[in-house]
Amino acid sequence: MCQVAPSTPPTPDGPVLLLAPHGWHVPLQAGLSLMESAERAGVRLVRSCRNGTCRRCLCRMTAGEISYRIDWPGVSAEERAEGWVLPCVAVASRDVTLLVPDASRPLAV
Ligand code: FES
Repeated sequence: MCQVAPSTPPTPDGPVLLLAPHGWHVPLQAGLSLMESAERAGVRLVRSCRNGTCRRCLCRMTAGEISYRIDWPGVSAEERAEGWVLPCVAVASRDVTLLVPDASRPLAV
């Protein structure tokens, strides 16, 4: 588990992923990674392998708490302590804020 700041309890509508600095809110869906939840909402995060090894998606979590769905994600203990996470294999059941300035909304109109 990785936690950088107190996370808020889930809202009645479920936990939310806030993508900063854009201010985009994405519902976190049970069983999906942070990246998969973002994609379901039409947000594309920088990525490559999608399995926790390439570190292309590495970004800062500024609030919240996540766990990983793989045993050995490619992020060191020191990086975890600093809030670095891999959203392609991270899951959360409470609100999370990621700093992802390179995220895009290719399907936005
Ligand atoms: S996309 Fe490769 S580690 Fe996340």
